[in-house]
Amino acid sequence: MKRILLFILPILFIVTAVFAGFGIMQARLEEERLMDDLKKKAMAVSESMELSVRHIFLDNDLKVANRLVEIFQKKEKLQGCVIYDKDGKILAITERISDWRDKDKPYLNDILASRSSRGALEKFREYSVYSYILPVTDDNGDVIGATEIIYDTSYVFTILTQLWKRISASLIVLLVLIVIITLLIQRQIFILPVRRLTQWFTHFQTGEIDKLRPFEEKGEFGKLISEVEQVALGLRVARNIVYNKASERIQKEELWTEAKLRDLVHAKLGENSLFVVSNREPYMHIIEEITAVSRCVRPASGVVTAIDPVMRACGGTWIAHGSGNADRKFVNSRNKVGVPPENNKYILKRIWLSKNEEEGYYYGFANEGLWPLCHITHARPVFRESDWQMYKKVNQKFADSILEELPKKPSFLFIQDYHFTLLPGMIKEKRPDVTIALFWHIPWPNPESFSICPYQVEILSGMLACDLIGFHVQYHCNNFLETANRLLESRVDTEKFSIVRGGNETFIKAFPISVDDYSDVIDPKSDNDEIEKIRKEFNLEGKIIAIGVDRIDYTKGIIERIQAIDRFLEKYPEYKNKFVFIQLAAPSRTHIKRYHDLMGEIDELVEKKNWKYSAGEWKPMVYLKKQFSPEEIKPYYLLADMCIVSSLHDGMNLVAKEYVISKKDLSGVLLLSRFTGAARELTDSVQINPYSIEDFADAIKFAIEMPAEEKKRHMEKMRAIVKKNNVYRWAGNIITELTSLKKA
Ligand code: G6P
Repeated sequence: MKRILLFILPILFIVTAVFAGFGIMQARLEEERLMDDLKKKAMAVSESMELSVRHIFLDNDLKVANRLVEIFQKKEKLQGCVIYDKDGKILAITERISDWRDKDKPYLNDILASRSSRGALEKFREYSVYSYILPVTDDNGDVIGATEIIYDTSYVFTILTQLWKRISASLIVLLVLIVIITLLIQRQIFILPVRRLTQWFTHFQTGEIDKLRPFEEKGEFGKLISEVEQVALGLRVARNIVYNKASERIQKEELWTEAKLRDLVHAKLGENSLFVVSNREPYMHIIEEITAVSRCVRPASGVVTAIDPVMRACGGTWIAHGSGNADRKFVNSRNKVGVPPENNKYILKRIWLSKNEEEGYYYGFANEGLWPLCHITHARPVFRESDWQMYKKVNQKFADSILEELPKKPSFLFIQDYHFTLLPGMIKEKRPDVTIALFWHIPWPNPESFSICPYQVEILSGMLACDLIGFHVQYHCNNFLETANRLLESRVDTEKFSIVRGGNETFIKAFPISVDDYSDVIDPKSDNDEIEKIRKEFNLEGKIIAIGVDRIDYTKGIIERIQAIDRFLEKYPEYKNKFVFIQLAAPSRTHIKRYHDLMGEIDELVEKKNWKYSAGEWKPMVYLKKQFSPEEIKPYYLLADMCIVSSLHDGMNLVAKEYVISKKDLSGVLLLSRFTGAARELTDSVQINPYSIEDFADAIKFAIEMPAEEKKRHMEKMRAIVKKNNVYRWAGNIITELTSLKKA
């Protein structure tokens, strides 16, 4: 619009200026012509009056003079007329202009003295009149008086006003015509071809008209289209090569790698057809409060840890809540940004939520309702109607934004977690052709526990619009199947592990999530430097080091961990001064009271226990409370003799797998809560019941004292499991399963 205005406004301005100049000239000429006519008329009338006036003077007949001025006024349609004597005194004046008598006429004496006539515009009452004065002479040529003819000039202005009105109306018509014609021309030669090209590109992107030429066009636009055609041809060829090579490689490779997953996606899904949605975004732009510098951070989140490598491998679009305080500064006009920032491999589309929406949907319903509902940690779920309404609203907001992105060709939507139980139904309502999988990253409770949720039917119905629902372990799948069976009118097929409801079949399957094996890309030099730095900073030389890495969440069993370490040192005092526990703790969901209180409880407990044991330089616990990047965590894993994962309940727990995968030298022991999903795969860990503080303390001693050879053997087995069942296998299995369900 701005551009059109820039084009049209100068034209309109020039036309208006030319028209105004032309109008002024025409009005001037017209005015001159009218005044000229008036003058001529006045002269003629004066001359015809002159003879009669001379007789009046000669006969000295005043009565006749008065009659004469009235007769002439009527006959000649004058405003009035006046007869003066030779001294300029009024002898007779038309009655209707009698107040003309009082007007000051400094020019009159000059006229009488010079004997020359005078015509001029004069002001009378509120308007202007034309006055023509003619001296009257006797036979000797001596001035004996004068006549004055006065015309009303208002009709001159009426005519001029009408002339201006005509000029203005023509100008308006002309301007409107110019605007219409310009818009039509602009549309014809610019907008329509650009629109056709844009539409063609959109279809090309979605693979609908791969082989069609854009359209015929000549001139400069034709050249542009020809260039576009060449680019499209190149892309088509490149795409085919990628697909063919990808299919060949999938057959050959054994171990799941980033490249194999990429090949699978290219071969099975094609380009631009994988869409991931989660609440937490994988990259967050934030402005540091103190320095005011913006930087990009990776949030502490299991979902991010698992899905980011998958998206890096496959490309596609990830839609998530833009929660960083500088996020808006880094997106394009469609709220998208290429990530990772240093080497863009996929697109992140950010969705903006108001404080109210975040409060109700994320903090309220998702994290005060569903989170405690699904984790058996004896924290009471809170269900507020207002939170539920906001949860529905935000699910719809995400659905609308995803629908904008989905191409017309069959595509795949991979939804993450408990934040979006209603989303599958909302998408399927508008796009039944889209294949949808939902992965539930947290545990699924048994039907009795789930049945306390007031919105159970809506939640289950929303989820069952999916084609596939994945959980970490079979136990959670079974819980879900039972829940649907008991709480919903549906048919559960225990052979196929599917649920049929309203003509739609949803498959339920376990896909144990995992991590990327980054141990081969570890840089020993810089890692050693970092490890040494940490050793020095916390005085760790010669100490047995245990590590904990968690979001500060009541499900993670951090309090129990501290109590167990306390008991361990009480029970086995020989480890005083020898053992140090480092807890890396990322503050999380801090607006929720339960989380806020937990932070306070942990601070207090660490402080208390450190005070209890501290002697000289040594203190048993180092508590580091901040968001750590994966690069910052890595040296801690490498340095630790033991990693403690003591979740009270956890879907999988990727910290356990990260620790194992980073121990390339096969050192270290994993203490793992038996209430995590990971405990089912990592059976070579030292498994603990975090509620049993006594056993937990003994397990710490047991892990420390385990012979080095045994530690190695266990670590080797666990590493082999995680290496084989890495996150690429996890994603590969889900995509293979999804494409086998792909709608025709
Ligand atoms: C759990 C959830 C994830 C979530 C993560 C971090 O692992 O399953 O979906 O990303 O917690 O929680 P947050 O609320 O900070 O995203």
